[in-house]
Amino acid sequence: MKNIVLVVFLLPFLSFGSLVWGPKGHRVTGYIAEKHLTGKAKKALDDLLEGHSLAFVSTYADEIKSDTKYAGYTPWHYVNYPLDRTYKDSEKSGAGDIVTGIAKCKTVLKDGNSSRADKIFHLKLLIHFLGDLHQPLHVGRAGDRGGNDIPLEWFNERSNLHKLWDTNLLETYGMGFYELGDELDRSTPKKERKQIQEGTIESWLEESHVLAKQIYSSANAGEKLGYSYAYKYNPVVFEQLKKGGFRLAKVLNEVFS
Ligand code: ADE
Ligand code: ZN
Ligand code: ZN
Repeated sequence: MKNIVLVVFLLPFLSFGSLVWGPKGHRVTGYIAEKHLTGKAKKALDDLLEGHSLAFVSTYADEIKSDTKYAGYTPWHYVNYPLDRTYKDSEKSGAGDIVTGIAKCKTVLKDGNSSRADKIFHLKLLIHFLGDLHQPLHVGRAGDRGGNDIPLEWFNERSNLHKLWDTNLLETYGMGFYELGDELDRSTPKKERKQIQEGTIESWLEESHVLAKQIYSSANAGEKLGYSYAYKYNPVVFEQLKKGGFRLAKVLNEVFS
Protein backbone atom coordinates (compact mmCIF):
# COMPACT_ATOMS: atom_id res chain seq x y z
CA MET A 1 0.00 0.00 0.00
CA LYS A 2 2.78 2.34 0.98
CA ASN A 3 4.42 1.72 -2.40
CA ILE A 4 1.21 2.43 -4.27
CA VAL A 5 0.78 5.70 -2.43
CA LEU A 6 4.37 6.61 -3.23
CA VAL A 7 3.97 5.79 -6.93
CA VAL A 8 0.72 7.75 -7.21
CA PHE A 9 2.33 10.70 -5.46
CA LEU A 10 5.38 10.62 -7.69
CA LEU A 11 3.53 10.08 -10.96
CA PRO A 12 3.22 13.75 -11.91
CA PHE A 13 6.96 14.19 -11.44
CA LEU A 14 8.03 11.27 -13.56
CA SER A 15 8.56 12.15 -17.17
CA PHE A 16 9.38 9.87 -20.03
CA GLY A 17 9.11 12.66 -22.55
CA SER A 18 12.36 14.47 -22.12
CA LEU A 19 14.53 12.34 -24.34
CA VAL A 20 12.27 11.41 -27.20
CA TRP A 21 10.60 13.30 -30.12
CA GLY A 22 7.36 12.10 -28.62
CA PRO A 23 5.58 9.02 -29.91
CA LYS A 24 3.12 11.18 -31.80
CA GLY A 25 5.83 12.95 -33.80
CA HIS A 26 7.31 9.62 -34.85
CA ARG A 27 3.95 8.13 -35.73
CA VAL A 28 2.99 11.11 -37.90
CA THR A 29 6.31 10.82 -39.76
CA GLY A 30 5.88 7.07 -40.30
CA TYR A 31 2.26 7.49 -41.32
CA ILE A 32 3.08 10.13 -43.94
CA ALA A 33 6.03 8.15 -45.30
CA GLU A 34 3.86 5.07 -45.79
CA LYS A 35 1.70 7.00 -48.26
CA HIS A 36 4.66 7.69 -50.55
CA LEU A 37 6.44 4.37 -50.88
CA THR A 38 7.11 2.77 -54.23
CA GLY A 39 5.51 -0.63 -54.82
CA LYS A 40 8.87 -2.29 -54.35
CA ALA A 41 9.61 -0.57 -51.06
CA LYS A 42 6.11 -1.26 -49.80
CA LYS A 43 6.55 -4.96 -50.52
CA ALA A 44 9.93 -5.14 -48.78
CA LEU A 45 8.56 -3.27 -45.76
CA ASP A 46 5.43 -5.42 -45.52
CA ASP A 47 7.71 -8.44 -45.44
CA LEU A 48 10.28 -7.13 -42.91
CA LEU A 49 7.73 -5.45 -40.63
CA GLU A 50 5.47 -8.52 -40.82
CA GLY A 51 2.45 -6.47 -41.74
CA HIS A 52 2.96 -3.74 -39.17
CA SER A 53 2.79 -0.10 -40.21
CA LEU A 54 5.68 2.36 -40.19
CA ALA A 55 3.75 4.39 -37.63
CA PHE A 56 3.56 1.37 -35.33
CA VAL A 57 7.27 0.50 -35.42
CA SER A 58 8.45 4.13 -35.40
CA THR A 59 8.91 4.21 -31.60
CA TYR A 60 10.81 0.93 -31.27
CA ALA A 61 14.18 2.72 -30.98
CA ASP A 62 12.89 4.55 -27.90
CA GLU A 63 11.32 1.44 -26.40
CA ILE A 64 14.64 -0.47 -26.40
CA LYS A 65 16.25 2.29 -24.32
CA SER A 66 14.83 0.62 -21.21
CA ASP A 67 17.06 -2.40 -21.90
CA THR A 68 20.70 -1.72 -21.01
CA LYS A 69 21.72 -4.23 -23.67
CA TYR A 70 20.91 -1.53 -26.22
CA ALA A 71 22.67 1.37 -24.46
CA GLY A 72 25.14 1.70 -27.32
CA TYR A 73 22.36 2.93 -29.62
CA THR A 74 21.33 5.90 -27.48
CA PRO A 75 23.83 8.35 -29.01
CA TRP A 76 22.39 7.55 -32.46
CA HIS A 77 19.23 9.53 -31.67
CA TYR A 78 20.88 12.95 -31.92
CA VAL A 79 24.00 14.96 -32.64
CA ASN A 80 25.18 18.07 -30.84
CA TYR A 81 27.61 20.63 -32.21
CA PRO A 82 28.17 24.37 -31.82
CA LEU A 83 25.46 26.57 -33.32
CA ASP A 84 27.93 28.46 -35.51
CA ARG A 85 29.42 25.29 -37.00
CA THR A 86 28.35 22.68 -39.49
CA TYR A 87 28.41 18.97 -38.79
CA LYS A 88 31.26 18.51 -41.25
CA ASP A 89 33.45 21.01 -39.39
CA SER A 90 32.70 19.83 -35.88
CA GLU A 91 34.23 17.27 -33.59
CA LYS A 92 32.61 13.84 -33.85
CA SER A 93 31.58 11.61 -30.98
CA GLY A 94 33.37 8.27 -30.86
CA ALA A 95 30.10 6.69 -29.73
CA GLY A 96 28.44 7.54 -33.05
CA ASP A 97 25.60 9.96 -33.68
CA ILE A 98 22.45 10.31 -35.73
CA VAL A 99 24.40 10.70 -38.97
CA THR A 100 26.60 7.64 -38.52
CA GLY A 101 23.60 5.77 -37.08
CA ILE A 102 21.47 6.42 -40.17
CA ALA A 103 24.39 5.48 -42.43
CA LYS A 104 24.86 2.20 -40.55
CA CYS A 105 21.16 1.34 -40.84
CA LYS A 106 21.24 1.95 -44.59
CA THR A 107 24.39 -0.17 -44.98
CA VAL A 108 22.89 -3.12 -43.10
CA LEU A 109 19.67 -2.93 -45.13
CA LYS A 110 21.48 -2.82 -48.47
CA ASP A 111 23.89 -5.61 -47.61
CA GLY A 112 22.79 -8.91 -49.12
CA ASN A 113 24.69 -10.75 -46.38
CA SER A 114 22.79 -9.15 -43.47
CA SER A 115 20.57 -11.50 -41.51
CA ARG A 116 16.83 -10.96 -41.59
CA ALA A 117 16.87 -10.12 -37.86
CA ASP A 118 19.57 -7.49 -38.40
CA LYS A 119 17.63 -5.99 -41.28
CA ILE A 120 14.43 -5.78 -39.24
CA PHE A 121 16.23 -4.18 -36.30
CA HIS A 122 18.03 -1.56 -38.40
CA LEU A 123 14.92 -0.82 -40.45
CA LYS A 124 12.98 0.05 -37.31
CA LEU A 125 15.85 2.26 -36.15
CA LEU A 126 16.09 3.99 -39.52
CA ILE A 127 12.36 4.80 -39.48
CA HIS A 128 12.80 6.33 -36.03
CA PHE A 129 15.98 8.29 -36.73
CA LEU A 130 14.53 10.06 -39.78
CA GLY A 131 11.96 11.43 -37.35
CA ASP A 132 14.55 12.47 -34.78
CA LEU A 133 16.58 14.18 -37.50
CA HIS A 134 13.67 16.62 -37.92
CA GLN A 135 13.29 17.49 -34.24
CA PRO A 136 15.51 20.58 -34.30
CA LEU A 137 16.78 20.07 -30.76
CA HIS A 138 18.11 16.64 -31.68
CA VAL A 139 20.62 18.68 -33.65
CA GLY A 140 21.38 21.10 -30.86
CA ARG A 141 24.04 22.20 -28.46
CA ALA A 142 26.02 19.80 -26.26
CA GLY A 143 26.27 22.06 -23.19
CA ASP A 144 22.53 21.87 -22.45
CA ARG A 145 21.97 18.42 -24.00
CA GLY A 146 19.78 19.73 -26.81
CA GLY A 147 17.74 21.90 -24.47
CA ASN A 148 17.09 19.19 -21.86
CA ASP A 149 18.91 21.36 -19.30
CA ILE A 150 16.88 24.51 -20.03
CA PRO A 151 13.94 24.36 -17.60
CA LEU A 152 10.69 26.09 -18.54
CA GLU A 153 7.05 26.15 -17.63
CA TRP A 154 4.55 24.99 -20.19
CA PHE A 155 1.00 26.03 -19.25
CA ASN A 156 2.12 26.12 -15.62
CA GLU A 157 3.72 22.68 -15.69
CA ARG A 158 7.40 22.02 -15.32
CA SER A 159 9.07 21.23 -18.60
CA ASN A 160 12.21 22.05 -20.53
CA LEU A 161 13.03 23.37 -23.97
CA HIS A 162 13.77 19.93 -25.38
CA LYS A 163 10.60 18.39 -24.05
CA LEU A 164 8.59 21.31 -25.35
CA TRP A 165 9.66 20.32 -28.85
CA ASP A 166 9.53 16.55 -28.32
CA THR A 167 6.03 16.41 -26.91
CA ASN A 168 4.43 19.48 -25.32
CA LEU A 169 3.72 21.44 -28.52
CA LEU A 170 2.21 18.43 -30.30
CA GLU A 171 0.22 17.22 -27.32
CA THR A 172 -1.24 20.65 -26.68
CA TYR A 173 -2.32 20.85 -30.32
CA GLY A 174 -4.51 17.84 -29.73
CA MET A 175 -4.81 16.10 -33.09
CA GLY A 176 -4.29 12.34 -33.46
CA PHE A 177 -1.44 11.07 -35.60
CA TYR A 178 -3.72 9.82 -38.41
CA GLU A 179 -5.55 13.12 -38.50
CA LEU A 180 -2.44 15.24 -38.46
CA GLY A 181 -0.67 12.98 -40.93
CA ASP A 182 -3.57 13.15 -43.38
CA GLU A 183 -3.88 16.87 -42.92
CA LEU A 184 -0.21 17.59 -43.58
CA ASP A 185 -0.10 15.26 -46.54
CA ARG A 186 -3.26 16.46 -48.29
CA SER A 187 -2.28 20.10 -47.92
CA THR A 188 1.09 19.63 -49.64
CA PRO A 189 1.14 19.86 -53.43
CA LYS A 190 3.22 17.23 -55.21
CA LYS A 191 5.66 19.86 -56.43
CA GLU A 192 6.40 20.94 -52.87
CA ARG A 193 6.75 17.34 -51.77
CA LYS A 194 9.34 16.73 -54.47
CA GLN A 195 11.26 19.84 -53.40
CA ILE A 196 11.23 18.69 -49.79
CA GLN A 197 12.65 15.34 -50.87
CA GLU A 198 15.67 16.95 -52.49
CA GLY A 199 18.92 17.05 -50.55
CA THR A 200 20.84 14.66 -48.36
CA ILE A 201 20.86 13.49 -44.76
CA GLU A 202 23.49 16.13 -44.05
CA SER A 203 21.63 19.00 -45.71
CA TRP A 204 18.49 18.04 -43.76
CA LEU A 205 20.58 17.91 -40.60
CA GLU A 206 21.86 21.45 -41.17
CA GLU A 207 18.28 22.68 -41.68
CA SER A 208 17.42 21.32 -38.25
CA HIS A 209 20.54 22.89 -36.79
CA VAL A 210 19.57 26.33 -38.14
CA LEU A 211 16.11 25.90 -36.62
CA ALA A 212 17.69 24.86 -33.32
CA LYS A 213 19.59 28.13 -33.28
CA GLN A 214 16.33 30.09 -33.64
CA ILE A 215 14.64 27.94 -31.01
CA TYR A 216 17.42 28.55 -28.50
CA SER A 217 16.87 32.28 -28.88
CA SER A 218 13.08 31.85 -28.55
CA ALA A 219 12.99 31.15 -24.83
CA ASN A 220 15.02 31.71 -21.68
CA ALA A 221 15.49 29.32 -18.80
CA GLY A 222 12.65 29.63 -16.31
CA GLU A 223 10.26 31.34 -18.75
CA LYS A 224 6.53 30.61 -18.62
CA LEU A 225 5.28 29.64 -22.04
CA GLY A 226 1.88 28.83 -23.48
CA TYR A 227 -0.51 29.96 -26.21
CA SER A 228 1.63 32.55 -27.93
CA TYR A 229 4.60 30.20 -28.19
CA ALA A 230 2.35 27.47 -29.60
CA TYR A 231 0.84 29.91 -32.09
CA LYS A 232 4.27 30.93 -33.29
CA TYR A 233 5.89 27.49 -33.45
CA ASN A 234 3.18 24.97 -34.29
CA PRO A 235 3.68 25.68 -38.02
CA VAL A 236 7.38 24.83 -37.61
CA VAL A 237 6.54 21.56 -35.86
CA PHE A 238 4.11 20.66 -38.66
CA GLU A 239 6.64 21.54 -41.35
CA GLN A 240 9.27 19.35 -39.70
CA LEU A 241 6.89 16.39 -39.39
CA LYS A 242 5.92 16.72 -43.02
CA LYS A 243 9.55 16.87 -44.12
CA GLY A 244 10.41 13.88 -41.97
CA GLY A 245 7.61 11.86 -43.57
CA PHE A 246 8.39 12.68 -47.20
CA ARG A 247 12.12 12.24 -46.69
CA LEU A 248 11.71 8.94 -44.87
CA ALA A 249 9.76 7.71 -47.89
CA LYS A 250 12.57 8.86 -50.17
CA VAL A 251 15.25 7.11 -48.12
CA LEU A 252 13.27 3.85 -47.95
CA ASN A 253 12.45 3.98 -51.66
CA GLU A 254 16.17 4.27 -52.38
CA VAL A 255 17.22 1.58 -49.94
CA PHE A 256 14.74 -0.89 -51.43
CA SER A 257 15.08 0.16 -55.09
N1 ADE B 1 21.13 13.94 -25.02
C1 ADE B 1 22.19 14.75 -25.22
N2 ADE B 1 21.96 15.58 -26.25
C2 ADE B 1 20.74 15.30 -26.72
C3 ADE B 1 19.96 15.79 -27.79
N3 ADE B 1 20.39 16.78 -28.56
N4 ADE B 1 18.75 15.23 -27.99
C4 ADE B 1 18.32 14.25 -27.19
N5 ADE B 1 19.00 13.74 -26.18
C5 ADE B 1 20.21 14.25 -25.94
ZN1 ZN C 1 14.05 14.27 -27.94
ZN1 ZN D 1 14.81 9.06 -30.73
